[in-house]
Amino acid sequence: MSKAAITGIHGYVPDYILTNAELERMVDTNDEWITSRTGIKERHILKGEGMGSSHMGSKAVAGLLEKMNIKPEQVDLLICATTTPDYVFPCTANLICDMVGIRNIGSFDIQAACSGFLYALTIGTQFIETGKYRKVIVVGADKMSAITDYTDRTTCVLFGDGAGAVMLEPNDEGVGVLDSIIKSDGSGQNHLLQKAGGSRYPPSHETVEKRWHYVYQDGPSVFKFAVKNMADVSAEIMERNHLSGSDVAWLVPHQANKRIIDATAHRMGIESDRVMLNIHKYGNTTAATIPLCLFDYESQLKKGDNLIMAAFGGGFTWGAAYIKWAY
Ligand code: UT7
Repeated sequence: MSKAAITGIHGYVPDYILTNAELERMVDTNDEWITSRTGIKERHILKGEGMGSSHMGSKAVAGLLEKMNIKPEQVDLLICATTTPDYVFPCTANLICDMVGIRNIGSFDIQAACSGFLYALTIGTQFIETGKYRKVIVVGADKMSAITDYTDRTTCVLFGDGAGAVMLEPNDEGVGVLDSIIKSDGSGQNHLLQKAGGSRYPPSHETVEKRWHYVYQDGPSVFKFAVKNMADVSAEIMERNHLSGSDVAWLVPHQANKRIIDATAHRMGIESDRVMLNIHKYGNTTAATIPLCLFDYESQLKKGDNLIMAAFGGGFTWGAAYIKWAY
């Protein structure tokens, strides 16, 4: 059976940079608190009326196709992980395909909050491993600024906008996505959610007044679950693949909080110089954090490098993947 290998990666962040200094003028916060508690210095924000996650996702996909010299008609499937779809329906994957000229293929969204990219990658991998498709694009795209309450200092400092896309293709050289684990526990639903806008609480004057269309997060509770579960699932995937810390070239963690990343790396026995980190530049871009890390570090990756991806997010959802880099 062929493995699914990541054969290309591209990322996109919008131009506007929201710094800690600007946030200091918006809410009662300061650079020292944000930097020491989260590791974030700045984040990119998508500005402009009528602009959604698809605008960033399509830039990432168009860049990927151009870079790999692949025509839209060669793509077999496109999966988009997002928590901030442009619309309730149609899905953002459909919109991205339309924007880049990909027609008449399957495309759909996956919603697993900050673990969305890992979930979508796991699903995309199955289509390659079964032999059904040969070119699958997995996108992570989120416009978190659309659901961030810029009067709430406990959440508005955390999030940013961005997108990343990878190409999956069959490989028989022993490289690619070698294993993945995805998990969820819906009893965590009330700790991290956007309460209104879905079928339970459709938009109304009351939901707007109560600010239910914004991210709500009980930070300390989520922090506790994130530290434990991201470290546990990373240890689990390493154990079942007989990997020790020294076998791992790179940890590719979801970028929610530098302290969570450090705790995960410590548990895995991985030194900080082998941990991909870009939270200082982008903040938490939800489904885009992992592909944006790969994009930023692409030039440092070597064929055969062992990568462990790990994520934790709303739901709760979490997971890990073991990848042997293919190029
Ligand atoms: O990506 C999806 C999963 N999400 C996560 O993994 C995020 C998990 N949680 C976290 O990363 C952290 O809990 C936060 C970064 C959100 C918060 O950090 P914390 O160390 O847990 O702070 P805290 O919520 O316990 O707040 C400590 C203090 C509070 O003040 P008092 O009650 O001690 O007086 C907060 O009101 O810090 C205050 N505070 C702030 N102060 C300045 C909260 N936000 C801010 C702020 N600026 N932006």
